[in-house]
Amino acid sequence: MKKTIAITRGDGCGPEVVNEAVNILKIVSDFTEFDFEFIEAPAGGEVWKKYGTNLPEQSFETIKKSDALLFGAIGLPDLKPGIAESAILKIRQGLDLYVNLRPIKLYQVLREICPLKDEFIGDGIDITFVRENTEGLYKNIGKLEENSAENLMLYTREGCERIIKFAFEFAKRKGHNKVTSVDKANILKPSQLWRSIFHEMSKSYSKIEIEDIYIDAFCQWLIRAPFKFQTVVTGNMFGDIISDEAAFLIGSLGMASSGNIHPGKVSMYEPIHGSAPDIAGKGIANPIGTILSVKLMMEESFNSLEIGNEIDHAVEAALQEGRTVDIRSNSLKTLSTIEMGDLIASKLKRRLKA
Ligand code: IPM
Ligand code: MG
Repeated sequence: MKKTIAITRGDGCGPEVVNEAVNILKIVSDFTEFDFEFIEAPAGGEVWKKYGTNLPEQSFETIKKSDALLFGAIGLPDLKPGIAESAILKIRQGLDLYVNLRPIKLYQVLREICPLKDEFIGDGIDITFVRENTEGLYKNIGKLEENSAENLMLYTREGCERIIKFAFEFAKRKGHNKVTSVDKANILKPSQLWRSIFHEMSKSYSKIEIEDIYIDAFCQWLIRAPFKFQTVVTGNMFGDIISDEAAFLIGSLGMASSGNIHPGKVSMYEPIHGSAPDIAGKGIANPIGTILSVKLMMEESFNSLEIGNEIDHAVEAALQEGRTVDIRSNSLKTLSTIEMGDLIASKLKRRLKA
C-alpha cells in the first residue's frame, strides 16, 4: 500500500523529534505491507524568516496532495507570538481538520512519575479528548484596537454536530460506555447550543451514557478523579487548555500526541508540545509524543489498528529500559532523543519481524 507522507520538521526541537518518528515510519514501511514515501513541506518560524511566510504555497500544495502530514513543532522565541504558529491554524482551517484527537494514557510503567497520589490515579488514566478544531475563538474573527480588542466565539450547528458525532462514533469504536461533554453553558451562548446538540445526538447512541461538566469544574475533576473519564468532547479553546493540563498526568507534555483529522481526508499528526526553544539542539527532547502521533496516523488515516498497537507496545517496552530527562527514573538509564528513538525502533522492528 503506497502512501505519501508530507513532513514538516518545524522549529526548535521539532526536527529532532520528527527524525525519530520518521524512523518509526521507515520501519513500518520496511516490515509491513505499507510503502511510505516522504516529501518535505517546510513551515514555521525559520521558513518565515527566509521567505516572509510561515506556510509557503508549495508546502501547502505538497500537503494537500499527500496522504497524511507529520508535523514537528513551530515557533521561535525571537518572533512575536503567532508569527510562526499561525501556520498550524492555516493548515487546520485550510484542510478543514475539524477533529483534534488527543489521547491521554498513563503507561503503567510511568505510574511512579505521575504527579497525582496513587488514590487519585485509581485504576489508571486513559482518556481521549475530542477537541473541536475549526470553530469558536479559533475562527480568528475579531479586531485589535488601541483601547479594546475582541474575538468572536462562533459555533454553528453543523460544526457542533460533526464533532459530537465523531466523539460518539469514536466512543463506540473503542468500546467506551460514557461520553463527557465539557462546556460553559451557564454563561456562554455557544455552549448552550453545543449542549442541546449533544443531548439531541446522544439519543442515537442509547448504549452510551452521557455526562455534562462545566469547564471550571472539569479542570478540578481531571486531577481529582481522572479514572472516571473515557471520551471527552469539548470546544476548541477549552480543549486547548485542558489537554495541556491532562498531558502532565501522563508524565510529561513530551509524551502527548495528537491528530488533526478530517475523516477520509489528508490529516495532520503532531505532538502536543511546542518547539521548546530552551532545550532545542541539546538532543534531550522526548520523541514519544511524536512517535505516538505516528501511531495515531496509522490508526486514523491508514486504518491499521494493529500497527498502532505494535507502536504502543514498543513504546511501553522501551520505557522499561530507559528514559529521556523529562520522564527520568533513578533506576533507569537517561537517554538522548536519538537513543530513545532507537530503542523504540528496535523494539518495534523485533515485534514486526515476529
Ligand atoms: C495546540 C497549540 C496551538 C493551539 C497553537 C500553537 C496555535 O497550543 O495545538 O494545542 O492553540 O491549538
Ligand atoms: Mg495547546
